[in-house]
Amino acid sequence: DKGPYPYYMLKEINEQPNIMRKLSQEYLDVDGKPTVDPKIISAMKKADRLYIVGAGTSYHAGLIGKALFEKLVHIPTEVHISSEFAYSDALLSQRPFFIFLSQSGETADSRVVLNNINKDYDSLTITNVENSTLSREATYTMLLNAGPEISVASTKAYTAQIALEAILAKALGEAVGQTTAQNFDVKRELSLAANGMQAVIDDKDRIDQISKKYFVHANRAFYIGRGEDYYVSLENALKLKEISYIQAEGFASGELKHGTIALIEKGTPVFALITQKKTAALTRSNLEETESRGSKGLTVVRKALAQPGDDFIIPDMSELLTPLVSVIPAQLLAYYTTLNKGYNVDRPRNLAKSVTVE
Ligand code: F6R
Repeated sequence: DKGPYPYYMLKEINEQPNIMRKLSQEYLDVDGKPTVDPKIISAMKKADRLYIVGAGTSYHAGLIGKALFEKLVHIPTEVHISSEFAYSDALLSQRPFFIFLSQSGETADSRVVLNNINKDYDSLTITNVENSTLSREATYTMLLNAGPEISVASTKAYTAQIALEAILAKALGEAVGQTTAQNFDVKRELSLAANGMQAVIDDKDRIDQISKKYFVHANRAFYIGRGEDYYVSLENALKLKEISYIQAEGFASGELKHGTIALIEKGTPVFALITQKKTAALTRSNLEETESRGSKGLTVVRKALAQPGDDFIIPDMSELLTPLVSVIPAQLLAYYTTLNKGYNVDRPRNLAKSVTVE
């Protein structure tokens, strides 16, 4: 039931702040200590490397997981597109542990990988659908509990997956004695994220205006950033292209000048994410390089890094979890652009919600 919403996508975008609070209640105790199944943690503790596997938006959530696990647990973490990994004859580490990310739990590409490794290695499926195939076939499972995601374009599953990865990384990091994990107040971060998400959602009319002005008539758009901001850019671009049919690319901002900047024309929207202190100045100058070639630059910036003229300011919070908030403006931008172009937001052409063929 869509309730008062014209489309499920808008409803699902709006649910995200509450999902953050719910995950916090479900997987953290009152003191903010993770209550993850100890069997999962002891299996993961034996691993020398994590392999995160997923497709589409779930793959993009996995990329954020790499940053979380490497920074909070100090364990090398690889992230793979399931359809590629399935046939790659990858050289695995001595003691791999696999994490499957799948909203539906039914994605065929990911099932092939699970079948390949199932005899030899332990795995965990993080999914939104209880009893789904990937959750039944993996050694362990954790539920996103984000409520059914109906819109073909995934929104709340992405942020729920990141939140759960953060809780898991905190739990594992503490279990192996990492001080960065001990000092990471995931409960507080999820609450900051929920508030930050809500502030962007409350600003949605302005996003509609930006959509009408700069996106509806564009034939291509770029989303840029570095590090985690780059990973979110990939997700932002997927959201726009899959429902509005505007060709969009997520790009590592430093890589633009190595060729792709040739595509910038007068008015081409370039949407930059600037939430990481180490790379903020660099991404800004990469954005300016596109603006001097005529692009329309837009920025999503963490408060401490903000400058006059920035378009969206997100709260100061751990740089590890800014993706939870920095993804929201582009989710809404994709929504409004699609609506403004007169397309069906929830049912884009050529796509199915659950992809059960390879
Ligand atoms: C994009 C989208 C898809 C899915 C992908 C994986 O908005 O929804 O890219 O993320 O098909 O699906 P799951 O997570 O169900 O394995």
